[in-house]
Amino acid sequence: NDNRRVIAVADPAALAEAAAERVLARIGANSGRVAICLTGGSSPRQLYQVLATDAYRSRIPWQRVHWFIGDERFVPADDPLNNMGMARRTFLDRCAPAANIHLIPTATADPADPDRCAALYEQELQSFYGADTLDQSRPVFDLVLMGVGPDGHTASLFPGDPALEETARWVVGVPRANVEPFVPRITLTLPILGSCREMLFEIAGAGKRAILTRLFARENLPANRARSTGETVWLVDREALPEDFGG
Ligand code: 6PG
Repeated sequence: NDNRRVIAVADPAALAEAAAERVLARIGANSGRVAICLTGGSSPRQLYQVLATDAYRSRIPWQRVHWFIGDERFVPADDPLNNMGMARRTFLDRCAPAANIHLIPTATADPADPDRCAALYEQELQSFYGADTLDQSRPVFDLVLMGVGPDGHTASLFPGDPALEETARWVVGVPRANVEPFVPRITLTLPILGSCREMLFEIAGAGKRAILTRLFARENLPANRARSTGETVWLVDREALPEDFGG
């Protein structure tokens, strides 16, 4: 089941452009309601900036595109560390109707009970999807964006965490993060992240080369377990690409 495709690009600017084109292509392929799952960390920031430029902004039918987030840090919505907060400041608040921005409700929930907050987001996703079980022929998302952490985590699915093995719940609380910021997290699980037409990883910079070497060697790490039921694409820039990569 190795449906992963690696696409090498020159640098972070080229990576953001390539990602933006893929976002547009996925929106263009669906004439109805589109669902896109964003991600946090620093990797998607440049893509978000590109989407906000007139050239891209004018090509997106904002009224019919819905934006979700694959994982969230348990901090207030306006905290600089809040993943959806970054996406909103960078492009969504200027471009998307408020009703199309589906944030994880950390503001109204108790950080001591991340599972409660997770359950609320699970309900929101299921009501948007119109069912509480996944239908393989009808993915939840058109596109799911992902990043890779230095320990091989993706979304807030950390190596060895029980959340990785979850098959029933769509969203779970993660009491302890493996990397900074060390705040509780909320994360979508592998089956729901994988329920998409395309899963798109953005991986850039020399700091990612060591973990990419391990991932390409097929180590059993979370990022290697995240696969779309459709297409899985890893956009990698030159600095991140391991030297012996033959592609
Ligand atoms: C988060 C992210 C996380 C991220 C990776 C890569 O909440 O931190 O969703 O999975 O994608 O840690 O982070 P960078 O993009 O900052 O390298």
